[in-house]
Amino acid sequence: MISTTQNSPLLDVNDLRVTFSTPDGDVTAVNNLTFSLRAGETLGIVGESGSGKSQTAFALMGLLAANGRIDGSARFNGSEILNLPERQLNRLRAEQISMIFQDPMTSLNPYLRVGEQLMEVLMLHKKMSKAEAFEASVQMLDAVKMPEARKRMRMYPHEFSGGMRQRVMIAMALLCRPKLLIADEPTTALDVTVQAQIMTLLNELKREFNTAIIMITHDLGVVAGICDKVLVMYAGRTMEYGTARDIFYRPTHPYAIGLLNAVPRLDGEGESLTTIAGNPPNLLQLPAGCPFQPRCRYAMEQCRYALPLADIGEGRLRACFKTPEEVL
Ligand SMILES: Nc1ncnc2c1ncn2[C@@H]1O[C@H](COP(=O)(O)OP(=O)(O)OP(=O)(O)O)[C@@H](O)[C@H]1O
Ligand SMILES: [Mg+2]
Repeated sequence: MISTTQNSPLLDVNDLRVTFSTPDGDVTAVNNLTFSLRAGETLGIVGESGSGKSQTAFALMGLLAANGRIDGSARFNGSEILNLPERQLNRLRAEQISMIFQDPMTSLNPYLRVGEQLMEVLMLHKKMSKAEAFEASVQMLDAVKMPEARKRMRMYPHEFSGGMRQRVMIAMALLCRPKLLIADEPTTALDVTVQAQIMTLLNELKREFNTAIIMITHDLGVVAGICDKVLVMYAGRTMEYGTARDIFYRPTHPYAIGLLNAVPRLDGEGESLTTIAGNPPNLLQLPAGCPFQPRCRYAMEQCRYALPLADIGEGRLRACFKTPEEVL
């Protein structure tokens, strides 16, 4: 018999909704999102700017702005984590789920040596002595392939390059051995070569520490190599969700296909980069039905009234009236 712990997901998100109240009315930034993640798995959340990727992460981490409201459910190791009281959230963030952001400077203290910042985390949350925390921090810097880790402990954040700072952030995020790491566009501010190095590093670390990762990006190319599953979002909604293999090699939603065509090919196939015409919608004036319909070349009358999210087999979700064959 297969054990249930092995089968049950680490994170199980059901009908997650994030609504902001604004002077102009309510804005639903995340709308009925459902996905799950097993231990050690990587999920890519992909979509253009404003599609609700960061707010999804913030909702899970309890980091929403004060005008935000969360509905739905997110079970982590079987326990609900949405709308937890601050104390429990702090524990969850310290011990189970950590997050890295696009710009490492937003989470590093510019006035403290990098070593002190790392050690502080371990002394506070793991009750380590100073000497233990020092050694564990050096080890973690080694693990993220920081050259001369011991020496770098004494340096300040501004003395590091962008890529090295992001390595420090990854080290800090992994110090307490979280079960889940949420990486929100961790490489967008870096140049392409350094981006690739960081992605490779995350992929190695995920194996080493068996950490599940949610990788947020607007670039479907980034997720191809390292994700097990991909969620394609538009205007807060799921457009398509499935295994990375399916979504990357056989996307079947017009928006997912559009995103993929916007990925620069590394195989020399070309300069034929096509962006999706038009712009993401204003959430305050979202059309009824499918939010992508005004930009979709396959749009039909019924797309203006409903968004048909359906399981098209083996947990693959797709929100489109056209059949996959009709849009390929
Ligand atoms: N405090 C807030 N009040 C009102 N609307 C908000 C608030 N915070 C975010 N939003 C809206 O929620 C929507 C989704 O934002 P989110 O940050 O999740 O997008 P994203 O997919 O991460 O985009 P990007 O790729 O640019 O980071 C945006 O339209 C944004 O304007
Ligand atoms: Mg974002």
